[in-house]
Amino acid sequence: MIRKKVIAGNWKMNKTAGDGAILARDIVAEIGRVTSVDIVLCPPFTALESVGRVLEGQAIKLGAQNMHPEKNGAFTGEISAEMLRTLYATHVILGHSERRTYCGETDAFINRKVLAALANQLKPIVCVGETLAERETGSTLAVVQRHVEGALAGVTKQQITTVIIAYEPVWAIGTGRVATTAQAQEVHAFIRDLLTKLYGAPLAQKVRILYGGSMKPGNASELLAEKDIDGGLIGGASLEARSFIDLVKAADAAN
Ligand code: 13P
Repeated sequence: MIRKKVIAGNWKMNKTAGDGAILARDIVAEIGRVTSVDIVLCPPFTALESVGRVLEGQAIKLGAQNMHPEKNGAFTGEISAEMLRTLYATHVILGHSERRTYCGETDAFINRKVLAALANQLKPIVCVGETLAERETGSTLAVVQRHVEGALAGVTKQQITTVIIAYEPVWAIGTGRVATTAQAQEVHAFIRDLLTKLYGAPLAQKVRILYGGSMKPGNASELLAEKDIDGGLIGGASLEARSFIDLVKAADAAN
């Protein structure tokens, strides 16, 4: 095993503080002390504190779904890296396609967030991936390259292994339409090659590249068996303890 698998749950805009704590408790009861897989729960901002309390003393890590690149100031509705750190978050999802689409986030803005997260010892989970139209016009790899290079501009060799990349084809998110293992592996290998060009092979081999998009217990083992698929960023299936736990078990078996 050169790279420990990662299973991260992106709860998106689901779960109140109370409901999130209940879900986290159910997950902790069965896999709270699992260390063979890196497990991250990413509740909405309003449930970070309650979920964080449940995770205290457990191996499962806490992540946010977004943050602002500035330290503080007049940015109504935004949350800084320091605010996340003081709630014991260790990870932050950045550049999710839903934020690119609905909030107009650009590669340049996402890059500022990645650099700010790293400067504050938060591990970024950087999302990249093409839309259906982009895939159909044959521009998947060009789009993924633009997303990866854009997000990582200025990230140093010392920092790169703390970055997690999530390849999430937009057409597979929440649609039940999962990428085939071949489609996913092709893009994951392409990202690994890009990282090799940017940082050299030894470091590129250490970076975890997750797949996201309708990943479920029923299709996870096949995806996780691929050489460059190092885990999953899970939406829908992370909202129920049973399916999330089964995904962690699938990742453990694939280690
Ligand atoms: P689904 O697993 O619901 O397709 O969502 C994937 C995703 O967007 C995770 O960030």
